[in-house]
Amino acid sequence: MVGPGVFAMRIHHAFLLILSLALTLQAQVQLQPRAGKPVLGLTASQLARFDAGRVVFNTQILPGEGLGPCFNQQSCGGCHGIPDAGGAGTIEVTRFGIAATGGMPFNPLGALGGSLLQSQAINPACLEVVPAAANVVINRITPPAFGMGLVQAIPDAAIIANAINPPAGVSGIVHMVGAFEDPAGAPLHAGRFGWKAQVATALTFSADAALMEMGLTNRFVTTEQAPNGNAVLLAQWDLVADPEDGPDAQGFHKIDRMADFQRFLAAPPQTPRNGMGGEAIFMSIGCGSCHTPSFTSGTVAEAALSNKTFRPYGDFLLHDMGSLGDGIVQGAGTENEMRTAPLWGVRARPALLHDGRATGQDFAGNIDLSVQDHFGEASASRLAWNALSFAQQALVVNFLDSLGRAEFDHDGDNDVDMVDWFYMRIGFTGPVPTYMPDDANSRHDVDQDGDLDVVDFVHMQRAFSGQ
Ligand code: HEC
Ligand code: HEC
Repeated sequence: MVGPGVFAMRIHHAFLLILSLALTLQAQVQLQPRAGKPVLGLTASQLARFDAGRVVFNTQILPGEGLGPCFNQQSCGGCHGIPDAGGAGTIEVTRFGIAATGGMPFNPLGALGGSLLQSQAINPACLEVVPAAANVVINRITPPAFGMGLVQAIPDAAIIANAINPPAGVSGIVHMVGAFEDPAGAPLHAGRFGWKAQVATALTFSADAALMEMGLTNRFVTTEQAPNGNAVLLAQWDLVADPEDGPDAQGFHKIDRMADFQRFLAAPPQTPRNGMGGEAIFMSIGCGSCHTPSFTSGTVAEAALSNKTFRPYGDFLLHDMGSLGDGIVQGAGTENEMRTAPLWGVRARPALLHDGRATGQDFAGNIDLSVQDHFGEASASRLAWNALSFAQQALVVNFLDSLGRAEFDHDGDNDVDMVDWFYMRIGFTGPVPTYMPDDANSRHDVDQDGDLDVVDFVHMQRAFSGQ
């Protein structure tokens, strides 16, 4: 015999179940991948390549496999890991050279192992030092490789357009570069990766970084870096035949695996997706003139990367930043010119600006430190930032804190767990419009209809990762 109370409860449960099923089917919002996850819509074989690529990206190579003689780290992941594989890092590399003087151009001291220093070696004899002649010595921090396939797929014309027809007050320069994998005589591409926009593709970056950071020669760069230019030491310690990289059982070289992983990495999420008051202020004071909100990829081999609109908040152009420039000349990138740092995922970056100088404070403080060093072309927007009220600056910071935040990730630690559920639960409203995008609770309002109701709850269950 079932009492009326229990019966009512069963009806109630059944009702809730049907309701939540109906809502799931009805209002599916596509959740954004978290930082370090693959782009949505990859085929099974592309996903397998992403997984295999992540392993190679994170695996330390050993001297017997081609590491060194001099190197910086044993794996890509050794530097690129925050908040997940492929991300940013606190490790900095050193570049050096002799500043231009008396009609002589910048000298990268290539014959002495420049301009990049390798700070480790497989034997102490090969350890590089900054040559005494160098009078420019700077550090560069590790930026993330998220969304790289999407960025690579931006048509050159879309990047060049902002250089030809710049927004008022700025004048970006496109860095035209070749790619290792290009056939001879192929046209140049708009560079987009690296602090000087000096590289256009994931494969070229992987081949170059494999050699420069790990000492792994490969099919594109077959000549080892001699320690501080010393050929005798190189002959003595470079014991693996070049090229050291080669095909695995499926025919992929390590650099192909690395490039796959980076190309299939998703763009950092943005939560809430739009409507924050701070973004309007950010645009109105000219930040968006260089930190271009969105681009759309062209058509490439993979449907998952084709014709997708995404929001890097960067124009991939070089800008004269005045004294913020790092004094290094790389290709056509001059001393004062730096590539606009894309701001997607900026909330997860432990230190900001090319040498990581903007750090040590909280997020808001680091943003302010970054802006205070925006000189040259960015001076007007710095002054406009300084003229904002404290409340307006806080709104901009709140907006920048949404770049890289996953839906439901209230505490912003790149997972959705019990802590985040705690906050969602106390913010629950039912279908009563309550929250504006600037409210912290709108992080849980996945369909952005202003309330936290059963629809959002159903998606929270899907997003819950517990770690
Ligand atoms: C010692 C640390 C270190 C290691 C190891 C390292 N990187 Fe980097 N990475 C950096 C730094 C520093 C930069 C900025 C380089 C520059 O522009 O001068 C960078 C930049 C990048 C970028 C450009 C991201 C952007 O949007 O500008 C990519 C892609 C990248 N690295 C891929 C790799 C790959 C692939 C490997 C492994 C073969 C690797 N890195 C190994 C430190 C490292
Ligand atoms: C003229 C172009 C330009 C304008 C305008 C501009 N920026 Fe930048 N921004 C850059 C460049 C270039 C960098 C990289 C500089 C470097 O590290 O040397 C950068 C870096 C940053 C960084 C550090 C990101 C990182 O990953 O290290 C932040 C934060 C930032 N900008 C915020 C802003 C804000 C806020 C405004 C508006 C007040 C603004 N920027 C206006 C060009 C610009």
